[in-house]
Amino acid sequence: MKGFIFDLDGVIVDTARYHFLAWKKLAEELGVDFTVQDNEKLKGVSRARSLEILLELGEVKATEEEKEKWMQQKNEGYLQYVSRMDEQEVLPGVIPALQFLKANDGRIALGSASRNARLILEKTGIMPLFDTIVDGNDVSKAKPDPEVFVLAAKQLHVEPADCVVFEDSVAGIQAANTAGMASIGIGEADVLEEADRVFPDFTQIDLENLLSRSSPKKN
Ligand code: BG6
Ligand code: MG
Repeated sequence: MKGFIFDLDGVIVDTARYHFLAWKKLAEELGVDFTVQDNEKLKGVSRARSLEILLELGEVKATEEEKEKWMQQKNEGYLQYVSRMDEQEVLPGVIPALQFLKANDGRIALGSASRNARLILEKTGIMPLFDTIVDGNDVSKAKPDPEVFVLAAKQLHVEPADCVVFEDSVAGIQAANTAGMASIGIGEADVLEEADRVFPDFTQIDLENLLSRSSPKKN
């Protein structure tokens, strides 16, 4: 494998928790019952789609202006958590994994739905470890559409079949599979059952093995 595409939220940093807390605050204001389980459906999908799911849950009807206002409100709450982030928040094993892949000629991309991705990479100081960044500002179709990963592979100049995607969301695993890439789930196997392999975190992944593997998805 030659290309390594990392999702951001919930893979590199535990911002999935901050997204949840910010959506939860909005949900409470709107009188919508919103649980950690409900939040699984928001993982990996765009900000606009996340709001739609939340409004569907509460059967709330809204105008376009209200939707814009609520998305902005959620993002302001979310950015308060982001403003306090530093390198300590990078999840266990991630920095050594990025360094190992880089040292072994792996090409590394970020493939995230977030429009705040560059800010978070800057706050945590890991921006220089990426060869390219594709985020929510660069794509028009949200995961499970494969656009974000296809574009990342293109920018890395690596064939999709030679790429590995690291993802914590069901939508992201589906996007990687549709793109014809190897999908590695970070999280729980029963949630990420469509992934090729699932690991609880990066300390458990045998990267040497991954680098030397050829893709099972290649024709
Ligand atoms: C994804 C998260 O990475 O980015 C989603 O998993 C989030 O939960 C999406 O909604 C968009 O993020 P942002 O930062 O642009 O609101
Ligand atoms: Mg994620």
